[in-house]
Amino acid sequence: MLGRRRWRWLIPPASSSSTIFLLSLLLSSSGSVSADCECGYSYSYTTQPAKHHVFTEVTESNFARLSGEVSSIRTNTDWIRQAFNLTAEEARGDYGEMFAVENIQLQNDGGDGGLRLTVGSSLVQDMVPTAEIDTARMDMTTGTFRASIKLTGVPGTCAAFFWYYNDTQEIDMEFLSKDFNPQNKSYPVNLVLQSPQAARMGYDASKTNNFLKAYLPFDPTLDFHEYRIDYLPGTVFFYADGVLLAQMDGAAVPSSPGHLVLRHWSNGNKLWSGGPPPVDAIMKVRYVKAYFNSSAPQRHEDWARRCRDGGTGTGTAANSICRIPELTVANVSAKDWFFSEKGNMTNNQTIYGLDSGAAGRRQSGRRGAVWALILATGWWALMFA
Ligand SMILES: *[C@@H]1O[C@H](CO)[C@@H](O)[C@H](O)[C@H]1NC(C)=O
Ligand SMILES: *[C@@H]1O[C@H](CO)[C@@H](O)[C@H](O)[C@H]1NC(C)=O
Ligand SMILES: *[C@@H]1O[C@H](CO)[C@@H](O)[C@H](O)[C@H]1NC(C)=O
Ligand SMILES: *[C@@H]1O[C@H](CO)[C@@H](O)[C@H](O)[C@H]1NC(C)=O
Ligand SMILES: *[C@@H]1O[C@H](CO)[C@@H](O)[C@H](O)[C@H]1NC(C)=O
Ligand SMILES: *[C@@H]1O[C@H](CO)[C@@H](O)[C@H](O)[C@H]1NC(C)=O
Ligand SMILES: *[C@@H]1O[C@H](CO)[C@@H](O)[C@H](O)[C@H]1NC(C)=O
Repeated sequence: MLGRRRWRWLIPPASSSSTIFLLSLLLSSSGSVSADCECGYSYSYTTQPAKHHVFTEVTESNFARLSGEVSSIRTNTDWIRQAFNLTAEEARGDYGEMFAVENIQLQNDGGDGGLRLTVGSSLVQDMVPTAEIDTARMDMTTGTFRASIKLTGVPGTCAAFFWYYNDTQEIDMEFLSKDFNPQNKSYPVNLVLQSPQAARMGYDASKTNNFLKAYLPFDPTLDFHEYRIDYLPGTVFFYADGVLLAQMDGAAVPSSPGHLVLRHWSNGNKLWSGGPPPVDAIMKVRYVKAYFNSSAPQRHEDWARRCRDGGTGTGTAANSICRIPELTVANVSAKDWFFSEKGNMTNNQTIYGLDSGAAGRRQSGRRGAVWALILATGWWALMFA
């Protein structure tokens, strides 16, 4: 990218047909060096007035696809399986919790393929077998974070999708399977900002202003649905299938960089998870898509280098900012969209399992740069001939 800025300087004051020919070759070749979305990924959210945001980073995991190619989640560099034990006291429940990597599996069985987080029904030394997996990226500041999840209908677990920095900077979507009630079609989700205020209430956010129980308009145990947290400067929005569930503002909105967590757990606490579940309970995750900004200086430098308008972020070059497709109730086609599967739309992003197409394009990028160098040398030769 640095090179291209230098070439611009070569635009000749006078022209001859041969220099125009050379230049057009040069420009078309530098075009093939670049990829789409270099300046970021954008979306507008639909409250009035509509607002527009651009994020420079992407992490996408299509677990349903990965399961066909990779037999184990062990090798995935975007996600880290967690292993730790909590005593009943630490877990604040009747039982302890045993987070073990064996409780996280990739499975490919057609429509239900994806990541599986299992809560076991048989206690191990007074601990409930539980599951947690976290993103490797810890530098996630503002962003839009989306997970396609099919929840368990087995009562007695808490399934959580959340953004985490520490116990007072945390954005949670928590589903308690014991609260799902097909009789009266009641399917609540607990939306929480853990805050210093919640800490003062003994980490019971339900006693704060930053807790809301929303009701899903569908049975979340029958199919995958997209649950989404938009963490923006000063505001957090929660969605299900693109429908706004809640908005939270104010001092409880986090200010530090964090990471994403998928967790399925139970500790027997009747006031929350209940359980342990009578049979093994499975939370299924088809994908996670995260579009966000980074707190890492290296990623800022990388962005400034690759963004075609020289780091101004205005995205004036064609396709340099890509629109993030929205999944809605009426149109779910976005569920099958992954920038990382398009070959040239996640250049310089840190995504596990990019297909060979992307690697191939990176190579042709280097070939393009070599060609440009040869042509630029030819241009100099012409100038000084
Ligand atoms: C990126 O790939 C798409 C098709 O996947 C193509 O239409 C587009 O021209 C490509 N852009 C660049 C800059 O190579
Ligand atoms: C994300 O970072 C880009 C580049 O620095 C900036 O233009 C954009 O405003 C940031 N987005 C948010 C929501 O802060
Ligand atoms: C958790 O406890 C089980 C049962 O005692 C043990 O096998 C396992 O190694 C422990 N896990 C960790 C991370 O210490
Ligand atoms: C979380 O981090 C913030 C900012 O660093 C700090 O003020 C707060 O005390 C931390 N909370 C906990 C529970 O450590
Ligand atoms: C549905 O029934 C459960 C208990 O049977 C009750 O706790 C819940 O409030 C009811 N929900 C609605 C929306 O009526
Ligand atoms: C459905 O959503 C996709 C992705 O956002 C969009 O490209 C397409 O045009 C939409 N289709 C309709 C019929 O609105
Ligand atoms: C992004 O590009 C820079 C060079 O421009 C390189 O140093 C860095 O390693 C790249 N990062 C990734 C994730 O590809």
